[in-house]
Amino acid sequence: MIHKAVKSFGLGLTLLAASVSLYAKNNVVVVATGGTIAGAGASSTNSATYTAAKVPVDALINAVPQIKDLANVSGIQALQIASESITDKELLSLARQVNDLVKKPSVNGVVITHGTDTLEETAFFLNLVIHTDKPIVLVGSMRPSTALSADGPLNLYSAVALAASDEAKNKGVMVLMNDSIFAARDVTKGINIHTNAFVSQWGELGTLVEGKPYWFRSSVKRHTNASEFNIENIKGDQLPLVQIVYGSDSMIPDAYLAYAKAGAKAIINAGTGNGSVGNYIVPTLKKLHDEQGIQIIRSSRVPQGFVLRNAEQPDDQYGWVVAHDLNPQKARLLAALALTKTNDAKEIQRMFWQY
Ligand code: DGL
Repeated sequence: MIHKAVKSFGLGLTLLAASVSLYAKNNVVVVATGGTIAGAGASSTNSATYTAAKVPVDALINAVPQIKDLANVSGIQALQIASESITDKELLSLARQVNDLVKKPSVNGVVITHGTDTLEETAFFLNLVIHTDKPIVLVGSMRPSTALSADGPLNLYSAVALAASDEAKNKGVMVLMNDSIFAARDVTKGINIHTNAFVSQWGELGTLVEGKPYWFRSSVKRHTNASEFNIENIKGDQLPLVQIVYGSDSMIPDAYLAYAKAGAKAIINAGTGNGSVGNYIVPTLKKLHDEQGIQIIRSSRVPQGFVLRNAEQPDDQYGWVVAHDLNPQKARLLAALALTKTNDAKEIQRMFWQY
């Protein structure tokens, strides 16, 4: 009799310990979209020659069993795509899935595995449209899972550690790459062949070592709960059309005219230097703005610094907008979201100062 009582007491203790440990760990959902982190090459020495978006989410999670020490982890295969092929359709679908997840009380954090090519765009877009204080962490890798010294497994481990950390709440959407914690707004892919690919001219938010985040700054820009944009208010699977023209010497106006003909509501000019526009291109941009109401937004092809208003061009006189420090690809997304609310250049400029 006593033996039975002791046995059931022991079982009870085990169950209690298990429930406490389950209770003690946060719940993190890994949302997989493809990319190199899910890539596979022909041999272990193929660090740059491989096929992206092959390995499914469960295999990604099972390849790093240690993440189960960090959180209760589950996986969703939202997409299986190389990120250069993501369009508004996939971006909006992913944002709606992430929004549904963070609304669940049972979900404490979200990790999104993603190709690195357009990872910054997806991160910035979610930063603008998802209203939550829960950690949302995008992570990728520069080497496929099959490569020698693949960076994906440790990146994934660190991303789960970050998403499971209560300290990571209300920081905005973050990017975890190569031990660095970046703000979605500031990060960009600065090197296309090395594991330290991601950079931010304003620095990292912090760094993560052996599963522990160390913080050094916060973003001063509006994001997540402080954003005036909300995925729940965006209908359909297309954003207002905004396209980018890359500035150089000896340009011709045809790209701008073609985008206008295709229905672009704004054109991002990735200008030279301080967002400069060739004097032989200015008449085309003025005509598109004045006669067709197309917003002209001056960004720069230069990776660091920011575009000064009324410096290289009389923006006030022309009714143009400057992208401030946002690179052309991020300016394109903010402009598209702005156009879901207004076509007033002054209002759009306010948004570029605040986000
Ligand atoms: N095709 C690229 C992408 O999916 C590979 C780059 C990567 O994921 O690192 O973004």
